[in-house]
Amino acid sequence: MSIKFGNSKADQKNYPFQLPELPYKDTALEPHMSAETFSFHHKKHHAAYVNNLNALIEDSDFAKLSLEEIITKSKDDKPAIFNNAAQVWNHSFFWHSMSPKGGGKPKGELMQAIESSFGNYENFISEFKAAATTQFGSGWAWLVARENKLSIIKTSNAETPITEGYKTLINCDVWEHAYYLDYQNRRPDYVSVFLENLINWDFADYNFKNE
Ligand SMILES: [Fe+2]
Repeated sequence: MSIKFGNSKADQKNYPFQLPELPYKDTALEPHMSAETFSFHHKKHHAAYVNNLNALIEDSDFAKLSLEEIITKSKDDKPAIFNNAAQVWNHSFFWHSMSPKGGGKPKGELMQAIESSFGNYENFISEFKAAATTQFGSGWAWLVARENKLSIIKTSNAETPITEGYKTLINCDVWEHAYYLDYQNRRPDYVSVFLENLINWDFADYNFKNE
């Protein structure tokens, strides 16, 4: 499987990987997430993961594999390759987890799955906030699915639930580099804004209904 996220232009089969374009202008999420944040987060941090990964797998058998295969096969004993490959994937997915038209509530089958999995939408919000704010240090909060059962999980550093067989619907980057320029140390404020103004339910719905 190649990396292809909904309406993404990032259809990357294997080495050399490229920094995917943002699916919106770097000013499109202001005032919630600034162009300055994107100038570091996308053009520096994400780009560094892409460049590091390419340098690490050049001339190796990993160069023939898809990004998902690299992540799975490096997980146990190639930490540098795993960390960079997973962060390339996690960030490419994260840009689509937000939208200039984000926020609001999910609809239809996805809303029904949220209500049956969490009791109600408000419980989902409080559980997601709890996961995102209590992840100690760097990491990610995720809305994932297995069959029609949804759950929220948190992962540390570059860890990603795609290695556990989950279908990922949404992720939220809670590394400090994701929010420090706009929110300083106020991670809970950033997570609230993510859920109220940025979360891309169309993307979550697409992921829920597709492999
Ligand atoms: Fe990040």
